[in-house]
Amino acid sequence: MPMIEVQNVTKRYRDRVALDAVTFTVEKGEILGFLGPNGAGKSTMMKILTGFLPPTEGSAKVAGFDVFERPLEAKRNIGYLPETPPLYPEMTVRGYLKFVGRLKGVPRAKLKGEVERVASLTGTADVLDRLILALSKGFKQRVGLSQALLGSPPLLILDEPTEGLDPRQRADVLQLIKGLAGQHTVILSTHILPEVKATCQRVLIIHRGKPVAHDDLAKLADPSRETGLEETFIRLTAA
Ligand SMILES: Nc1ncnc2c1ncn2[C@@H]1O[C@H](COP(=O)(O)OP(=O)(O)OP(=O)(O)O)[C@@H](O)[C@H]1O
Ligand SMILES: [Mg+2]
Repeated sequence: MPMIEVQNVTKRYRDRVALDAVTFTVEKGEILGFLGPNGAGKSTMMKILTGFLPPTEGSAKVAGFDVFERPLEAKRNIGYLPETPPLYPEMTVRGYLKFVGRLKGVPRAKLKGEVERVASLTGTADVLDRLILALSKGFKQRVGLSQALLGSPPLLILDEPTEGLDPRQRADVLQLIKGLAGQHTVILSTHILPEVKATCQRVLIIHRGKPVAHDDLAKLADPSRETGLEETFIRLTAA
């Protein structure tokens, strides 16, 4: 069974078509780059997969569960980093992560250790006792990533996880995501092609609500082809 199955999903906001009959699957253990220019429909797709928005038409399943008919079972499999991480600025990082951990059903006895595990993965161990409001943007983003990792959900849905990070932090976070391969399935959105190259084996390129390519990176970038990946991306997302 694939980890994600999207069937013919269309999303309209009033008369604007944000997603147009999108179909794709993601196998377990894959790290999929969800690549597209601004306004392509990436965040909309992720909100549908995580049950925050209903599709206008079509269906989506996570770990075999329809995200609208079986929302609790589907969500139990998902760690989600939304475009704007849902942080409580007046809490400490530790207090916030414990709070999210309890919501996610991490057993009380394991909570402290689990918070420390994710903080060490995301490089936030040193700021656990600081107030979130006093953190820089990059560290807030890392705290957002930490909450997605809590409880080690099989599927991570990361909406522009490197947004707002400096180049060094960007590289660290991409390395971290790459390291999750195998134990987790990851779908990460970005409009930056080198980020996909640095992290993913597979890419789905979306443009104006439509998938325009879905393949192994190696195949799209095959040097024996006339064009490399950059040219392919630019051509597919032109106009
Ligand atoms: N709540 C909304 N109401 C109306 N239109 C919306 C709404 N949210 C998104 N849209 C439109 O849907 C389209 C897809 O938006 P979406 O946010 O999914 O794109 P994106 O690929 O995530 O872009 P970005 O890279 O800028 O984050 C855009 O044309 C956007 O203007
Ligand atoms: Mg977006």
